[in-house]
Amino acid sequence: MVCLGNICRSPLAEGIMRHLAAEKHLDWTIDSAGTGSWHVGDPPDARSVRVARKYGIDISGLRGRQFQTTDFDAFDRIFVMDLDNYRDVLRKARTEADRSKVQLLLERQQPVPDPWYDDALFEPVFKLILNGCERIVAATGLSK
Ligand code: 4NP
Repeated sequence: MVCLGNICRSPLAEGIMRHLAAEKHLDWTIDSAGTGSWHVGDPPDARSVRVARKYGIDISGLRGRQFQTTDFDAFDRIFVMDLDNYRDVLRKARTEADRSKVQLLLERQQPVPDPWYDDALFEPVFKLILNGCERIVAATGLSK
């Protein structure tokens, strides 16, 4: 799960996906990263922590890290939140196989908007990410 800072959107996506995967007993390796380096080592934004907690998900222990080329080797699928993230991740791709792993979290090229400057966006962003993650889990055909 990749966004710009790895403190607002992608930690939510990581926490939500971990939660859904655990519910479905899916043995997935789930992680998140930012395309930028400003927040490496930082905990998630308090507003993300709060909205996740409201829905029963604890993301307070996550720490920011930057997306790196080796993530293409470590993961089968790389979900990005918006088209800037998409471009920045693709810039690091080495091969067509790397590129083919990258897709937007939501359907129809819809971005998950960056809530950094707008407190009111955190709850709608949570719901958008939840919908995206639920769709991914449902599409695997592995759901129990
Ligand atoms: P995120 O939000 O990409 O959802 O983690 C942001 C967090 C921090 C910054 C930008 C976006 N920033 O510019 O520091």
